[in-house]
Amino acid sequence: MQVKSFNLERDTVDLKEELRKAFEEVLYSGEYILGEQVKLFEEEFAHYVGVKHGVGVGSGTDALRIAALSLGLEKGDKFVTTPNTYVATVMSLSIMGFIPVFCDIELESYTMDPNQLEEILRKDSKIKLCIPVHLYGHPAKMDEIKEVCTKHEVLILEDACQAHGALYKGRKVGSIGDASAFSFYPTKNLGCYGDGGIILTSSKKVYDMALMLRNYGQREKHLHEIEGFNSRLDELQAAFLRKKLSYLDIHNEKRRHIAWLYKKELSDLPLLLPQEAEWAHHVYHLFVVRTERRDELLSYLRDQGIYTLIHYPLPIHLQPAYKSLGYAPGDFPKAEKVSSEILSLPMYPSLKEDEVLKVCYAIRKFFLQ
Ligand SMILES: Cc1ncc(COP(=O)(O)O)c(C=O)c1O
Repeated sequence: MQVKSFNLERDTVDLKEELRKAFEEVLYSGEYILGEQVKLFEEEFAHYVGVKHGVGVGSGTDALRIAALSLGLEKGDKFVTTPNTYVATVMSLSIMGFIPVFCDIELESYTMDPNQLEEILRKDSKIKLCIPVHLYGHPAKMDEIKEVCTKHEVLILEDACQAHGALYKGRKVGSIGDASAFSFYPTKNLGCYGDGGIILTSSKKVYDMALMLRNYGQREKHLHEIEGFNSRLDELQAAFLRKKLSYLDIHNEKRRHIAWLYKKELSDLPLLLPQEAEWAHHVYHLFVVRTERRDELLSYLRDQGIYTLIHYPLPIHLQPAYKSLGYAPGDFPKAEKVSSEILSLPMYPSLKEDEVLKVCYAIRKFFLQ
């Protein structure tokens, strides 16, 4: 028996008929771009998260980029985020001429350290935007981050690409900052069957701007008020997402059950397990463990037919693409330390209990041999 790191085909089996119907509905509607399905999904997802507006776009990367522009960022402005995130958090903006500044993480949650953020913002008045990442499905410390950002007049764009449905003190993530970005990449907690993303905000101004930016800068057909992109969530993906949204909480509960089982089976081993702060509702986009013997464990598990991944092996400040920023090893010790120790165990709603037990048995054998 092999255990895959993701199993998208199997996650979808129960939804097959509903998805087929959604596909046919769009196919026969004759409307494929910015139609009824996108509009309804935007309203439904915004309502689910608890914000006023949603703007469906081509990917999570585009959601970040269009949100930053909609919030008023201008070329040369700086933004601050953590170095241990998917590269898109940074690259979505840096390629537009916005300059990244990094803030280290807290080891318990792998999310932004609000104390270091305060120091950074105090020293650099060019930073206009803060992007906390709700990494692996666990919320960042939003109250502390918000307090520091308010004091320094820095806007907040939540990167909620890995945390659909997660709660921060009872509020859905994506509803706390000035705007938020979600990805619907297939492996996400809410994933579509291609690329997709959404910007959420309760600000009418940001909403209006994002609507224009995703569609060639026009509000009215053929009147281009500003320069914009072609980045629109398409009708088919929106129709699939509407069906899948009704399963999101159920799927998140399955992920939480799997996390509970992993924790129960692995708690006595010399392995750091993911923590859930008492104010958080973790949705376990990934189940990330930590050990100094990470590389050995990864190959041992692979030899047993168990496939794991690393999110992420090289922090962004040390990536070749960002060499010109002048960062060096040692600049963000926590993010650097975890990058050599983290391992993402298989985690997806259709993962079976006997598969989880097989993974746990193999890990136990590895440590006890
Ligand atoms: C934290 C984070 N930010 C941004 C993105 C970018 O999303 P997308 O792949 O939809 O462009 C992803 C996912 O890939 C992500 O995990």
